[in-house]
Amino acid sequence: MTVRHFLTLLDLDPAEANQLIARAIELKRMHKAGEIYEPMKNQVLGMIFEKSSTRTRVSFETGMAHFGGHAIFLSPRDTQLGRGEPIEDSARVLSRMVDIIMIRTFEHEKIELFAENSQVPVINALTDSYHPCQLLADVQAYVEHRGSIQGKTVTYIGDGNNMCHSYINAARLFNFKLRVACPEGYEPEAGILEPAADRVEIIRDPVEASKDADVVVTDVWASMGQEDEQDGRAEAFKIYQVNADVMAAAADDAVFMHCLPAHRGEEVTAEVIDGPQSIVWDEAENRLHAQKALLEFLMSKN
Ligand code: CP
Ligand code: NVA
Repeated sequence: MTVRHFLTLLDLDPAEANQLIARAIELKRMHKAGEIYEPMKNQVLGMIFEKSSTRTRVSFETGMAHFGGHAIFLSPRDTQLGRGEPIEDSARVLSRMVDIIMIRTFEHEKIELFAENSQVPVINALTDSYHPCQLLADVQAYVEHRGSIQGKTVTYIGDGNNMCHSYINAARLFNFKLRVACPEGYEPEAGILEPAADRVEIIRDPVEASKDADVVVTDVWASMGQEDEQDGRAEAFKIYQVNADVMAAAADDAVFMHCLPAHRGEEVTAEVIDGPQSIVWDEAENRLHAQKALLEFLMSKN
């Protein structure tokens, strides 16, 4: 049997994706009601982090505790991964011991190579190219606040990075329209954009791109691994800020989202992220519930 992994959103079909969001909402309700549900008793999640994390680490560890299982945090600093043990060998060994693995790393090809050599499901917890777990939480947050996202208009303002790529995939999977406002030279990859060309457009002006949008979303100007580019990017992105003008152009009931961590005064103003249209704290909390739904789904399929 081939193992089902979650390396991008497109590893789910639309029916599975919508079911997963509904299940995340139900798991959230169960948790808030104090119901104990332990479908992963005695099972172990291996968590490989080659980049920093607050939300992803805490949500996966907490989710495994809720499910009656256990999580092991592995960093390259204190494993053989950091001393050059081949990815294939690490995948073969770890997947003989643990039941499911999540990885946060740099090149997307690394997680693909790991998954090819893993006997157990592998979850993408962020690569340079994608951040699919975040999109599950974002869609859950939208559905909770406003109902189905199908047919809605989402405006993504900023870098054509991992978050932007996952928004493009989400537009295909959940069937919404996406407008990307990014500076020249910072577009999403053509190979990711082209298959979504019927529902994604690039509009350079952030206010024009936000007109009547149902969701306005942004991300940092310099992602992890791009710290050296911070100054050049601050110049290139200076008009790509979600501020009061952008939110005024969006629909009256538009929501603002950000995967966090945020830089107030750069990609978003404090007024917007701390304002009444911002749902970023529900969005962040939903990492926990959405990933529990994902863990349950992958364990049931494998
Ligand atoms: N949004 C997100 O993935 O946050 P962390 O980097 O804190 O995990
Ligand atoms: N684009 C950001 C997302 C952080 C959650 C990064 O890769 O650093």
